[in-house]
Amino acid sequence: MHLQVKKAILPVAGLGTRFLPITKAIPKEMLAIVDRPMIQLIVEEAFSSGISQIILINGHHKGNIEDFFDTNYELNDLLSKKGDIANLEILEKIEKRGFICSLRQKAALGLGHAILCARPLIGDEPFAVLLGDDLIFTDSHTPPALAQLVENYYKTGIAQVALMQVPQTEIHKYGAAEGVADPKNSRNFIINNLVEKPPKGTEKTDQAVVGRYVLTPAIWGILEKLAPSNDGEIQLTDALVHLMKNEGLIGYRFCGSRVDAGDRIGYLRANLTHALLRQELRQDTLALMKELLQEDSTSVNSRSTSSEKR
Ligand code: G1P
Repeated sequence: MHLQVKKAILPVAGLGTRFLPITKAIPKEMLAIVDRPMIQLIVEEAFSSGISQIILINGHHKGNIEDFFDTNYELNDLLSKKGDIANLEILEKIEKRGFICSLRQKAALGLGHAILCARPLIGDEPFAVLLGDDLIFTDSHTPPALAQLVENYYKTGIAQVALMQVPQTEIHKYGAAEGVADPKNSRNFIINNLVEKPPKGTEKTDQAVVGRYVLTPAIWGILEKLAPSNDGEIQLTDALVHLMKNEGLIGYRFCGSRVDAGDRIGYLRANLTHALLRQELRQDTLALMKELLQEDSTSVNSRSTSSEKR
């Protein structure tokens, strides 16, 4: 029987430079997916996967992430006086959902360093990591992606990373996993090498690590001793290579649709996917999508008609 995975780290200190200019003043994690911040979807996934304590690794100027999960007495009081029970319930559900605490990463030294900051709060037990701009959508019949990894950790006792196939031309954006499929379980990929963002032309795999991990406490000693990579950052991927050699590492081919919401088009996709999964928004969203496609094809036709006339 393995120790339970009860704690999760959410590194949120990044500067969000892929999403400037808005991230100059608003943390990427607070960007709206329809009516809720991206981070709320990640937090919900963690709590729905059996996590009972979330540790945000936050940075300077991003305090409104903490505010979002705190109680806003003034607002609650106002809503209650107005009798706006529906909104009050939405806010109270967020405030009471579970235990969330926040630490500051005082230097931008990479993902491995961000995770190491949480060591005193986690100690000697397995834990999860969820990256804030990797949204993984599942339908109501499928467990959240993290729950799938946790389940597989309980079955195998081996650390897990979420894995998905990407076009080989895209693998340079990811941790790239080489290995072999487990003949006993096609969802398990037994990793025998990991390379962080392999330069174009050096790719050996199309299996990409995406932002869900279940790690064992052996990672602490590894991270502590790890030298920074060429860019000066402590890379989680480098630590995972050591963990793989010592204890093994499984790439779990999860069931679900992963969207990089830190990318502009990915962000649009995340909004539409989320809206389509919400029963109360689904029909209107489909109608909107059809209308936009229709409008676009009409305007293209009218453009070519007008150019013919000229
Ligand atoms: C991080 C990890 C990388 C992983 C990616 C998934 O990179 O370092 O291994 O494939 O997340 O989104 P980032 O995208 O934060 O640079």
